[in-house]
Amino acid sequence: MVLIAPSILSANFSALKDEIVALDKAGADMIHLDIMDGHFVDNLTFGPAVVKSLRPYTKLPFDVHLMVDYPEHFILPFKEAGADIITVHSEATVHLDALLNQIKNLGLKAGVALNPATDENVIKYVTDIVDLVLIMSVNPGLGGQTFIEASIDKISRVKKLLKGRNALIEVDGGINPLTAGQCISAGADILVAGTAVFKGGEYKKNIETLK
Ligand code: DX5
Ligand code: ZN
Repeated sequence: MVLIAPSILSANFSALKDEIVALDKAGADMIHLDIMDGHFVDNLTFGPAVVKSLRPYTKLPFDVHLMVDYPEHFILPFKEAGADIITVHSEATVHLDALLNQIKNLGLKAGVALNPATDENVIKYVTDIVDLVLIMSVNPGLGGQTFIEASIDKISRVKKLLKGRNALIEVDGGINPLTAGQCISAGADILVAGTAVFKGGEYKKNIETLK
């Protein structure tokens, strides 16, 4: 069964606590937190203080997607804020192996995110330590973008690279009931969805439709 990770990038930012509680009730499997720094991507969201303030309101895993430069500076602050999974972009570091070990040494699950034009073969050298590979199916920075079709074949190729390992495949961007089906068929384990979950305020129905 595929897991759904709603991205609170599409939530009402003036009521994040209520949104988290509503997603939990609606059957979300984890909460996806998009951290943007205005450098790695052209957008700013929120930092560890906001994540920490939300932590008491759900037991669901916090899936932190770091779209930041110098990710190594932010691992400990997000661990202390209550992250369960921290995913870093391979493009944001020249020391991917060391960065993943930094995350794992804190007792967290470590993910690698790949931008649409990044070669998936970069994960070949970290398959023994990575817990999750996040395939970006849009260019990171904004919600509500159109799914990039080439992501489907990329999911299949990553699936092959991860054969025999426990790592999960997560897909992020432009997920809707149609693209969700394609991603699941290609081998996705977790789907991140902002627009498709928050649409019309019917979180439970939307999550069930994606599943
Ligand atoms: C994009 C973010 C995504 C985004 C998904 O940079 O990483 O998590 O919020 O939003 P939708 O589902 O609207 O494409
Ligand atoms: Zn994301």
